Amino acid sequence: MSETPARPVAFETRETGEDGRRFSPSVARNREPIRDVFAAHVATTGLVLEVASGTGEHGAFITQALPGIEWTYSDIDPASLDSQRAWVKAAGHDRLKGPLMLDASLADWGAAESARPWDVLVSINMIHIAPMAAVEGLFAGAGRLLRPGGRLFLYGPYGREGAIAPSNARFSEDLKRRNPEWGVRDLDQEVLPLASLAGLVLQNVAEMPANNLSVIFERA
Ligand SMILES: C[S@@+](CC[C@H](N)C(=O)[O-])C[C@H]1O[C@@H](n2cnc3c(N)ncnc32)[C@H](O)[C@@H]1O
Repeated sequence: MSETPARPVAFETRETGEDGRRFSPSVARNREPIRDVFAAHVATTGLVLEVASGTGEHGAFITQALPGIEWTYSDIDPASLDSQRAWVKAAGHDRLKGPLMLDASLADWGAAESARPWDVLVSINMIHIAPMAAVEGLFAGAGRLLRPGGRLFLYGPYGREGAIAPSNARFSEDLKRRNPEWGVRDLDQEVLPLASLAGLVLQNVAEMPANNLSVIFERA
């Protein structure tokens, strides 16, 4: 499988609790609106595979709110997997699973592949902070692993039809300085073509705080 990325996986300082659970300042800000959109527009029951779970907080927060959801963590980064393991231990229920080591850019997602079909794939704040190969791999994976009618839920900053909010443009430049392969993606020009190649139909685009979007696709 893949090796640890040589560069930091996020742009913020994360606290680690004594039990190994990590906490991200950005998740503290965005977890409630993300949970609400997920519950209203994605699913309240079913099997969820999260790609790039990071600290693991979103899965813990959403499964706590939605007792019909079973959520499996994954990531490419071993330190993130450790935090996800700690969130599984601390959950107090058995609907948080994994974590799986998963590199979205690969054509075979290993254990996630054999567990298909999944009802939902989730990826929050990943596609701008990973190379385009990971974005392509994410959509190809959603096409392979989702059941027909299953959903792909993405959250993050985007451009739209070649235009981008000034705060997202500055963020994108920062990202590219760290890694020229990173950068805020244009939903219409870069992302939607990958979705249609993978057999995914755009269902909903919801505006979120701080110029972010929730984007929901359905597997045809
Ligand atoms: C900014 S963090 C977001 C983490 C989490 N989803 C959140 O919202 O807090 C980006 C995550 O993408 C993961 N990542 C980057 N490239 C990846 C890849 N090719 N496959 C899977 N995960 C990847 C990183 O390890 C990191 O955990």
